[in-house]
Amino acid sequence: MNRLVVVSNRVALPGKRGSAEGGLATGLARALEERGGLWFGWNGRVAETADSPPALLSNEAVNYATVPLTRREYDEYYVGFANRCLWPLCHSRLNLLRFKRREYQTYLNTNARFAQQLLPLLSDAPLIWVHDYHLLALGERLRQAGVRSPLGFFLHVPFPCPCTLRALPPHRELVRALLAYDLLGFQTIFDCDAFLGAVRLCVPEARVEERAVSYGGRRVRVLPFPIGIDVDEVAQLAERGRSGLHGKRLEASLTGRQLIIGVDRLDYSKGLPDRFRAYGQLLEHWPAFRRQVVLFQIAPLSRTEVPEYDSIRRELNAIAGDLHGRYADYDWLPLRYMTRGFPRRTIMGFLSLARVGLVTPLRDGMNLVAKEFVAAQPAHDPGVLVLSSLAGAAQELKDALIVNPYDGEQVAEGLAQALSMPVEERRERWSAMMKVLRDYDIHHWAQAFVHALAEGAGA
Ligand code: G6P
Repeated sequence: MNRLVVVSNRVALPGKRGSAEGGLATGLARALEERGGLWFGWNGRVAETADSPPALLSNEAVNYATVPLTRREYDEYYVGFANRCLWPLCHSRLNLLRFKRREYQTYLNTNARFAQQLLPLLSDAPLIWVHDYHLLALGERLRQAGVRSPLGFFLHVPFPCPCTLRALPPHRELVRALLAYDLLGFQTIFDCDAFLGAVRLCVPEARVEERAVSYGGRRVRVLPFPIGIDVDEVAQLAERGRSGLHGKRLEASLTGRQLIIGVDRLDYSKGLPDRFRAYGQLLEHWPAFRRQVVLFQIAPLSRTEVPEYDSIRRELNAIAGDLHGRYADYDWLPLRYMTRGFPRRTIMGFLSLARVGLVTPLRDGMNLVAKEFVAAQPAHDPGVLVLSSLAGAAQELKDALIVNPYDGEQVAEGLAQALSMPVEERRERWSAMMKVLRDYDIHHWAQAFVHALAEGAGA
């Protein structure tokens, strides 16, 4: 029996890389296992038609149902409206927002198609938990198809503040659509407040309370659920990765220099050009660190069909070349920059070898790399996290060195402070952050959401 149904654009099929990987997948899979459940979404492929019933796959306790996208849906729902309109909007990059009516219509149609294909799989009024900006209108489409089950939605990215949201032509329609859910979850209290502000702007007849909205005879709860990680999983992977071939090779290649590490999808929201420039400022103003440090930036290519991602790539290539031209020596390169990905275990091993984790997005819903960096550190000699104040994680990881990514000098100062920090202070900060990570881990997140959804439904 599918008592919990998870719907997301990408599905983490068991044992399959490149779908939805990592801690989130583990957390959702455990929540599904506990209740018995189904995970529905895109299979990652493009097909001529997408009308056939979903492909089904089961392991012990979880069923998976996946469907392809048509070429048009891929171009207009995924690349177009989701990633060229909603993504820049949610990350406050209005200069990059590009709206096309046709793409918006395909986005709504794809949400409706997902709803239609999901319907026959819903038995016995399960709890339905929908994820992320690709599926804002799915709840409304399910309601229109007669679904009475409790519907929850969690937004992994930031919710834009009302004055930014107004730039999206169909903003009123989408805010109304979200009110079809019973529970709306966001990463931080700021996102909840931004959403409630949007309701005041877009749905004046709704009654906005502190953490809820009453509208059309229904009550929609609006709560923060900061997403966490599986701390033990990361710690174990880090240990294995560190002692594996790549961990050993990285360690040997450092020849005693301190490692600063960044791991991000190559995305303009991650602030990589500003990060490289801030590192340049460190080398410029603290010459004693020259030859003593290495910045290793892993930035796997992402959404390469979106032109804005190509521009950021070219910009980074230019800044990286400039850094080398200016500061490299014949036997030392200040920067190692790669757009190739690595298996999760290798990445966790690399994180554990770094003295500094440099996580400076210009805007981020949460940023799990910040949390993974902390969990990957060895307890006796932990590294320091330099974290953007504009990442959701900064609301929880108060013992990181919090910096404003738009202030390059402050980021450079943060780096200098982190690189010189005595081990006692590093341990103190690390222990405080580990406590937060353990208290609010990925399983706590999934359970808290499902519990709140069930509670609201009187289940
Ligand atoms: C962000 C989004 C996810 C998305 C991921 C990778 O973390 O919140 O929903 O799956 O990026 O992006 P992609 O476009 O490759 O799915």
